[in-house]
Amino acid sequence: MATTCQPDGTDHLPDSPAHLSDYAEKLIRGRRAVRAFHRRPVPEETLRAVFALAGAAPSNSNTQPWHVEVVSGAARDRLSADLLAAHADKRMSLDFPYRQDMYRGAHEARRRAAGAAMYGALGIGRDDHEGRDAFNAESLRFYGAPHVALLFLPPTAEERMAADVGMYGQTLLLALSAYGIASCPQGLLSFYAGTVRESLGIEDRKLLFGISFGYADAAAPVNGITVPRAALHETTRFHG
Ligand SMILES: Cc1cc2nc3c(=O)[nH]c(=O)nc-3n(C[C@H](O)[C@H](O)[C@H](O)COP(=O)(O)O)c2cc1C
Repeated sequence: MATTCQPDGTDHLPDSPAHLSDYAEKLIRGRRAVRAFHRRPVPEETLRAVFALAGAAPSNSNTQPWHVEVVSGAARDRLSADLLAAHADKRMSLDFPYRQDMYRGAHEARRRAAGAAMYGALGIGRDDHEGRDAFNAESLRFYGAPHVALLFLPPTAEERMAADVGMYGQTLLLALSAYGIASCPQGLLSFYAGTVRESLGIEDRKLLFGISFGYADAAAPVNGITVPRAALHETTRFHG
């Protein structure tokens, strides 16, 4: 693809080439949260390419305040065991508080609809608390993914910095997709921030969320769900 070389030596993309928007449509709309994986690991060279690409994410004043721990192999199995033990003991520790009632109106309706789609595909009923708990435990096994990335902020971080790490997170999801790797962002992992820190030997960084990733199990019904998006006018107003 033709690029323009800037005076600072960096290449910038020319204005909206049609083929790039086609790729963007496919890449952005084609990504989905995947919740069943094969155990086959991603080759190390691919891992490095993907995480190098994700580092191109924008951040406030180019501060790049994210710190990422990529966990695979025996360390991944140990982390999962530690999370399951914490879950069984109800040992939760959040660096950023979570309150379900922060979602109201349309947001709450969408949250419920996404849950219903997911549990529906899994055949887990509304009042099947055991089934839901078992599925929560499965999420602490990273849905079977061979890798998990934990996204941290500095110990001094306040809410505003979460915007930077969110930018990084979506860039990472798209970079993974572009390399044929499926993923699931998992806020639930941050409910056990203390356990994650202890398991990985991290002193004081704050955990925002994790991303499980690997190759999708295309046959798993839970990977067949798609959740709709709000119509443009519901979220976006154009002025002028
Ligand atoms: C910050 C964040 C946290 C999430 N946490 C979880 C989670 O804990 N467990 C889970 O299964 N999915 C989680 N998801 C996935 C969302 O449910 C999913 O992205 C959403 O329903 C839209 O579906 P899609 O990604 O397939 O388009 C999370 C997504 C984001 C962005």
